[in-house]
Amino acid sequence: MGGAQPLAVTMNDGAVLVVDVDESRLARRVDHGYLDEYTTDLDHAVGRVLAAKDAGEALSVGIVGNAADVFPELLRRHRAGELTVDIVTDQTSAHDPLAYLPRGVAFADWRAAASDDPEGFTERARASMAAQVEAMVGFQDAGAAVFDYGNSIRREAELGGFPRAFEFPGFVPAYIRPLFAEGKGPFRWAALSGDPADIAATDRAVAELFPEDAALHRWLEKAADKVHFEGLPARICWLGYKERHLAGLKFNEMVASGELKAPIVIGRDHLDSGSVASPYRETEAMADGSDAIADWPLLNALLNTASGASWVSLHHGGASGSVVRSTRGRSRSPTARRSPPRSSSGS
Ligand SMILES: NC(=O)c1ccc[n+]([C@@H]2O[C@H](COP(=O)([O-])OP(=O)(O)OC[C@H]3O[C@@H](n4cnc5c(N)ncnc54)[C@H](O)[C@@H]3O)[C@@H](O)[C@H]2O)c1
Repeated sequence: MGGAQPLAVTMNDGAVLVVDVDESRLARRVDHGYLDEYTTDLDHAVGRVLAAKDAGEALSVGIVGNAADVFPELLRRHRAGELTVDIVTDQTSAHDPLAYLPRGVAFADWRAAASDDPEGFTERARASMAAQVEAMVGFQDAGAAVFDYGNSIRREAELGGFPRAFEFPGFVPAYIRPLFAEGKGPFRWAALSGDPADIAATDRAVAELFPEDAALHRWLEKAADKVHFEGLPARICWLGYKERHLAGLKFNEMVASGELKAPIVIGRDHLDSGSVASPYRETEAMADGSDAIADWPLLNALLNTASGASWVSLHHGGASGSVVRSTRGRSRSPTARRSPPRSSSGS
């Protein structure tokens, strides 16, 4: 489980079961309001989720367990007609096999087992990922919508010996690229004042700018209530071509009039088109076959620089690629030039 998933489902009125081997992670998510409840009893967890689903209520339930055990067990119940699963994905840190706990290894032994024998641990982790991904493909065969969340689990499962791993799609070709095709992309901003009231004011301004966009309004309301700021207060929205500049101009006005206490930094996201070269994620299944061409972030950085962005950063994308991020607009704050602020919305 990653933090985003339970909240993403309940924000859209769904009922979800999330699995994590680390009970402290589940407890922390409950403390932060990202997860509603958790248990160590799978029957209880499944019962709670199915009851919420039947009642049409939003609910997220965590189960302490290993996904490589729980996914096949849920598939068995799905096939037996004991439950119906509509959507399946995974957000374990599968891109790093040492950060994925193989089944049969006790949680308390994780660190020691990974450091004593990293190669053996990697093999066991990949074999477990193969079992988990086999169950995910099984859910797809049984009619569920299944997608890779961008953690490279299909590749690791393939290395672990499961040949059908790539039969379900990555989330970018399945859901994100069609939005790019419409000109919609991530648009995010941070308040250099550090005052959450400035983000609340920009939330209101963006909602007023786009009164017809029901999904945007829903997100802005729920995010203001549920998403905690880390570092500088920040917000992300998916806005379209011919919309993003309107938000930027509005922010300029609000800074100039003193309605906002300090400038706003407008940034982009690694999911923005052309920002990452990553054949198992952002550039998977490109229509022109350019999945593994590393030039996209370089070209994007050059383009942003030539277009007058005030801050362009080109950096390694951690798990799976190179990333470019840029800011536009009139922020000339020394803070923005010296050290990029940590934004709290998305990754
Ligand atoms: N699509 C995106 O834009 C996007 C965004 C963020 C992260 N990611 C990817 O998602 C993955 C997770 O990122 P994160 O920041 O949430 O990491 P994280 O470390 O916060 O969460 C991963 C969780 O997986 C759990 N875990 C490990 N092995 C497990 C197992 N066998 N069964 C059940 N749980 C297990 C860990 O206990 C941990 O809580 C990474 O690969 C990352 O690259 C993708």
